Parts: sequence; C-alpha cells; structure tokens
Amino acid sequence: MLDSNSQKDRGLKRVSRCLSPLSRVRYCLFSVCALCFIINGILYLLNPLSLTSPERIDITETIVNPHNYSYILNHPGACNTNTELVMVVCTGMTNFGEREAIRNTWGAVGRDTNSNITVLFLIGSGGSEDTQKQIFNESNIYKDIIQESFTDSYRNLSIKSQAMLKWINTFCLTAKYALKTDDDMYVNVPNLLKALKKQTLDKFILGHIYVNAHPVQEKKSKWYTPIKDFSENTYPRYSSGTAYSLSVKAVPELYRASLKTKHFWLEDIYITGLCARRAKIPRIHDWSFQYTKPATTGCAYQSIITGHGNTIQDMNKIHKELLDLKLKCFPWLFWLCCVF
Ligand SMILES: *[C@@H]1O[C@H](CO)[C@@H](O)[C@H](O)[C@H]1NC(C)=O
Ligand SMILES: *[C@@H]1O[C@H](CO)[C@@H](O)[C@H](O)[C@H]1NC(C)=O
Ligand SMILES: *[C@@H]1O[C@H](CO)[C@@H](O)[C@H](O)[C@H]1NC(C)=O
Ligand SMILES: *[C@@H]1O[C@H](CO)[C@@H](O)[C@H](O)[C@H]1NC(C)=O
Repeated sequence: MLDSNSQKDRGLKRVSRCLSPLSRVRYCLFSVCALCFIINGILYLLNPLSLTSPERIDITETIVNPHNYSYILNHPGACNTNTELVMVVCTGMTNFGEREAIRNTWGAVGRDTNSNITVLFLIGSGGSEDTQKQIFNESNIYKDIIQESFTDSYRNLSIKSQAMLKWINTFCLTAKYALKTDDDMYVNVPNLLKALKKQTLDKFILGHIYVNAHPVQEKKSKWYTPIKDFSENTYPRYSSGTAYSLSVKAVPELYRASLKTKHFWLEDIYITGLCARRAKIPRIHDWSFQYTKPATTGCAYQSIITGHGNTIQDMNKIHKELLDLKLKCFPWLFWLCCVF
C-alpha cells in the first residue's frame, strides 16, 4: 500500500516539474498581451484614429454627390404640423396637361386643407423662356410646383429624386409618409394610406421590390449600363421608381446617404437600391404597387395602389369610375385575369 502511494507522489512531482515551464510560457504570453494592451491604450489616447478599422474610414463624411442647386420655385410652407402624407410627382417642365389631370383626379386631395395631404410637382430647369413663363403662371395659381436649377432631362432623374429627399428633409420633416411617383401614374390614395398605416417599422421604403436584377449589358437598350457606371454583378434590392412610398423618418438618413453615394442615373436603383442599402433602410414589397398598366377601369384600381402608363384621358376615366357609388366590381375576376 505504502509503496504504491509513494509511487503516486513521485508521479505527481514529475507532472509538476513538467508544468512549470508551461506556466512560465503562459506568464510570458500574458505579460506580452498586457503590455500590448497598455501600449495600444496610450496610442489610442494620443490619436483616436490609429485604432479605427478600414470600415470606419469608409463611412466618414465624404461628399461625392453634392446637391447644391438653387430653388427657382419653392413653397416652404406646403407642409405643416398636420401633414400626414406628402406626395411628390416627378414631372417634365412641359407636362402641363398631366399636372392638371392629377390635380383634378387623384391629386385633388392635396388641395383639400382638411385632408392633411400635400401634393407637389417637382421639375428641373432649362426650358424655353415661354415655357418658364407658363410655369411661373401655373405656380402662382396652384402653389404646388418646386423647381430646382439642374437641367431637366431623363438622364437627370436621380438628381430630381435627390431634390425630393432634400426638400422633405428641409421643409417637411413633420409629415409621416412620403410618396415618390411620376406624372403617368394613377394613385389610389385611400389604398396607399391603408397600406402605410399597416407598416410597423419606423423606417421603410414600400413599393414593388426587385431582387437580383442585373445591369443591362446590351448597348442598344434604353437602360444600357456600362461596367464603369456600375461594377457589381447585380443591383441591390430596389423598388420600382414608378411609385414608392417611404416613412419620413427614413428621409434624413436616405438624403445623407445620397450625398455620399456616387451618382447613378437610374433613379430607382440609385435611391431605393444603392442609397437605401447604405442607409440600411428596409425595402418592403407590396404587390399592389403595379408598375405595369392595369385595365383602365375603376374596378382594376379598386384593389391596387398604383398603375403605370396612364394618359390624361385614362386618369379621368379611372377617377370618375372609382368615385361612382354605383360601381360594382368582382375582385375575384381581376385576380383571375392576373393569374391567367
Ligand atoms: C456645389 O458644391 C461643390 C462641392 O462642394 C462646389 O464645388 C460647387 O461650386 C458648388 N456649387 C454651387 C452652385 O454652389
Ligand atoms: C387632420 O389633422 C387634424 C389634426 O391632427 C385632425 O384633427 C384631422 O382629423 C385630420 N384629418 C384627417 C382627414 O385625417
Ligand atoms: C396660366 O395658367 C392657367 C392654368 O394652367 C391657364 O389656364 C392660363 O391660360 C395661364 N395663363 C397664361 C397667361 O399663361
Ligand atoms: C443633366 O442632363 C443634361 C443633359 O442630359 C446634362 O448635360 C447635364 O450635365 C446634367 N446634369 C446637370 C446637373 O444638369
């Protein structure tokens, strides 16, 4: 018995002799680490930037896409503390008839002061003297035109949408929701409000969302995008630009992101894709933002939010039918038509 015990003791001694160099190494490592920690701490106090990672440097405030155009026409008081929704229609300078049609149809809520809804038309500049005179006249009458000094052109639509973000960020932060749309869209405003009020997130973009879209590489296409303009394989998740809605809480970050994001001419991909990704604004899909042309009937528009490709006559027809109290629709028929 005793013998086996002493054997165990000897064994233990052997183990402890083996351990001691190991713990010396541990002690050494610990000291080195502690020293590094202290040195780093001193360096940090001397120069806080010395420890920042490349990622942090990437999000510093470098303005690559400034937006410092001046206002030719502005209505700073178009929003007030009651404003719930501001709808911004991007339109061409000479589209007088389209603006008139919108004012008389779905945009009429904008002129009803009890609706708490504001409708504004956003244009650039560079038209003829005559056109500009007419625009001044139109603006005097309706007080719903915002005009900035950049050249109004298809290639400049991203600048126009950035102008919208800037305007809301400056003059309409009290509103709850915003809508960006074009002058060939019909918007079912009550349906839009319903969809917006259902949202639970603080910051969001709501629209028809595209996922994994590819830049068009065919040179003949209207949307041809050379790799020098966009180098990634796929576009980020983005909303169709025909109409998208957003919470006004998302606007300041989205606008700031646009100042720091290289200009890209496709407005929807730029604002709701690239800038929204940078600002980490979620993009939510809603099927009822139709980016194609549904039937030109009140019934088709009764169950959706927006429809594309409408002429002045189309808008008037849809609106008249939607307001008709005798309108009888069979929504299942509409769904059936969509399926087949
Ligand atoms: C806009 O900002 C850029 C860069 O900050 C500056 O170079 C340019 O002169 C400005 N333009 C106007 C019209 O203020
Ligand atoms: C507009 O806002 C006012 C004040 O918040 C409110 O009393 C009124 O009910 C609102 N109108 C509509 C149509 O929501
Ligand atoms: C001013 O605008 C209104 C509404 O668009 C139009 O009816 C009127 O003819 C215009 N007047 C002039 C002088 O352009
Ligand atoms: C806008 O578009 C026109 C023509 O497409 C172009 O010449 C101009 O440089 C663009 N940018 C601005 C800021 O006007």
